[in-house]
Amino acid sequence: MHADMAGILIAEAQIGARVRELGTQITSDYRDQGDLLLVGVLKGSAMFMMDLARAIKLSVAIDFIAVASYGASTESSGVVRLLKDLDTDIAGRHMLLVEDIIDSGMTLAYLRSQMLRRNPASLRICTLLNKPDRRTADVPVDYVGFDIPNEFVVGYGLDYAERYRNLPYIGVLKPVVYMAS
Ligand code: IMP
Ligand code: MG
Repeated sequence: MHADMAGILIAEAQIGARVRELGTQITSDYRDQGDLLLVGVLKGSAMFMMDLARAIKLSVAIDFIAVASYGASTESSGVVRLLKDLDTDIAGRHMLLVEDIIDSGMTLAYLRSQMLRRNPASLRICTLLNKPDRRTADVPVDYVGFDIPNEFVVGYGLDYAERYRNLPYIGVLKPVVYMAS
């Protein structure tokens, strides 16, 4: 385990097993819809997105969107800004938004309202991690990998100040690491 971790919350094998389950469920839910567009929210969802895409046994298109809300802090600023838009026109398409973690819900509430204005055929949300206790914005979530307690986690795509994204597990960061900066 990395020295900055207080502990491992979700081990690599658990993540893999749950991602395969989500892939199976999404495959069966979209089997008769034809065209599915997966949209990952950069950068945190990138690892999850690639593993999930491989676990979905349908032909899918992939796109990414980037937003900024956090900076180097562990609390959402509440201000969400679009940094990179989609390359794809989503009108009439079935779109699945893929997130790493839902905390306050403000990022996804913003993205969802922006995407709905473009008239997709459907819009669902899939998140690897969910912190239900922290929700302030009301946003419907269709697929959840794991509900987790209110602790700051990193790894498997999630960062603190751009670090730890490449850890293969979800770990709890020692508070001393972010209190020092
Ligand atoms: P929300 O807008 O408060 O739901 O924040 C969602 C975003 O905050 C996520 O996409 C992450 O980038 C970031 N975030 C929230 N909680 C954590 C965490 O525990 N570790 C790392 N990033 C987090
Ligand atoms: Mg994110």
